[in-house]
Amino acid sequence: DGNTMDNTMGNIIGSTMQGLKLLVTAAGTREPIDPVRYIGNRSSGKMGYAIAEAAARLGAEVTLISGPSALQPPAGVEFFGVESAREMRQLVQEKFPACDIVIKAAAVADYRVKNVSDQKIKKNDAELTLVLEKNPDILKELGEMKQPHQTLVGFAAETQNLLQYAKGKLEKKNLDMIVANDVSKPQAGFNVDTNLIKLLKRDGSIEELPLMSKKELAYIILDRVMKLRK
Ligand code: CTP
Repeated sequence: DGNTMDNTMGNIIGSTMQGLKLLVTAAGTREPIDPVRYIGNRSSGKMGYAIAEAAARLGAEVTLISGPSALQPPAGVEFFGVESAREMRQLVQEKFPACDIVIKAAAVADYRVKNVSDQKIKKNDAELTLVLEKNPDILKELGEMKQPHQTLVGFAAETQNLLQYAKGKLEKKNLDMIVANDVSKPQAGFNVDTNLIKLLKRDGSIEELPLMSKKELAYIILDRVMKLRK
């Protein structure tokens, strides 16, 4: 159960997170098409919620900003629910300056619908074209705003060239660490309880972790973040 896990993993991590402010984003954003429809993705929020819960148990002051998810916000966490990428961006930017650590597990939509319809779109023609425009890259913006005391962690979900793409994102977004997962594997990524991840750090090191539950991985990710800050 949660308490047993906390005791074991708390020993592994060996350090408390007391006195640290952590911001976690989780789940997927939804981009409206019209009042009843949206563009979404398969992210469940499990990884991000597990990180928020583990950090709170280790004593951190945690803020969780989440897209729509079926999960309950963990106990002892300050929670904000958002829908679109732009809503998430606004809240994240508001909270960012006061944070020591930011972990961006959310699957943010890269594009939004350009002309959102005020009314429900009726079916008329055989084809319907939606024009999409780019959303801001929240994580990249944080990488530009980052202060020396802040640790920034991103995620990379890929179906090919995992290490190459993840390394590119680590550098381009000015991150301290990136959690790379190959979402083409059935035990990894979206909407399952386990994950298969690799941790890439600024010094070029790559740590490959065995298949584990997202709840266990949450503690490992936090442990590596704490080690980076030492
Ligand atoms: N991210 C973000 N804002 C976006 C898109 C992504 O903050 N508009 C963050 C995610 O929260 C994640 C990381 O960037 O931590 C990587 O997201 P991903 O979708 O894998 O990468 P992209 O940069 O969008 O690159 P691509 O779509 O080309 O793979």
